Amino acid sequence: MTKNIAVIRGDGIGPEIVAEALKVLDKVGELFGHTFCYTDVDMGGCAIDKYGDPLPESELQKCLSSDSVLLGAVGGEKWNNVPGDKRPEKGLLRLRAGMGVYSNNRPAKIWKQLSDASPLKKEIVEKGIDFIIVRELIGGIYFGEHKTEGDTATDVLSYSESEIERIGRIGFETARKRNKKLCSVEKSNVLDSSRLWKKVMHRLAEEYTDVDLSDMLVDNCAMQLVKNPAQFDVIVTENMFGDILSDEASMITGSIGMIPSSSLGATSCGLYEPIHGSAPDIAGKNIANPIGTILSAAMMLRYSFDMGEEADAIENAVSAFLDAGLRTADIISEGMTQVGCSECGEFIVKNLKRE
Ligand code: IPM
Ligand code: MG
Repeated sequence: MTKNIAVIRGDGIGPEIVAEALKVLDKVGELFGHTFCYTDVDMGGCAIDKYGDPLPESELQKCLSSDSVLLGAVGGEKWNNVPGDKRPEKGLLRLRAGMGVYSNNRPAKIWKQLSDASPLKKEIVEKGIDFIIVRELIGGIYFGEHKTEGDTATDVLSYSESEIERIGRIGFETARKRNKKLCSVEKSNVLDSSRLWKKVMHRLAEEYTDVDLSDMLVDNCAMQLVKNPAQFDVIVTENMFGDILSDEASMITGSIGMIPSSSLGATSCGLYEPIHGSAPDIAGKNIANPIGTILSAAMMLRYSFDMGEEADAIENAVSAFLDAGLRTADIISEGMTQVGCSECGEFIVKNLKRE
């Protein structure tokens, strides 16, 4: 198969981690007889520097005409003082909205080799951490009106029933393929949008009678994630709650550097990105962890290109890296050997096998 991938290297550590993911994709292509063609797309701070715009229309169009998009990370201190609608992050939001990728899937799974990297107590980790956060990605407060007038700033949070329903369905479908437990997270004791959220989830539950739906307030969820993460199978939540909870979830699994994500909408063209940021403080030092991006590429193969075996091969090679006692700086622990970003990518490439 031939697939066209739009590649956004972005800012900070973005270019280094994406370079490793592309090496992995090239090797998968060689082993399994696929051709991956890459089109570079400028987005984020680098696009501001080049065009004065974090995502010019021509760059967005390259993504829309691709089979899927692989993204490193965008943003950095350098662009902190540009106006809100011109920030690097605005490019990312425009890309997500332009692609219509409303469903963001963030797995939180503890790799057995990294159980001591979790800051949680051993007895909590031992119960198992393996859940998915399904985050609504193109609605809510991120996309409501933002304005500052005099000494008052306003951000509007609104959701329509249809926006809630389509992400709710993804939550139920995801749970159906797993342990059939769906936890809907909201703040219905305070917010109207959350009361609507809860109502729509319960209406959907009548269709998905095989899935066990529970409700949880977002503040309680933040606590439960550290108290007893084993209780979760699939969490479905709105945009900003999902943003916050997924950072928390990544930390309890050891490192944010390990977590990939997929974002999908109505078509198979998806956006794949690690959930971490551009980490400008460690950029260019060959110490970043490329695994979140490499696993994002694996998700692209699995969910957009229907290449399950190829995705398994990547995940097995990541496991081999950890089994070999090799670690990037973010997951180093006693007795392990620290390697750099490119050594990590190269090891994974060498250990890719077609079973
Ligand atoms: C994420 C990031 C983004 C978000 C930022 C960079 C706009 O934190 O993907 O979680 O808030 O969605
Ligand atoms: Mg975030």
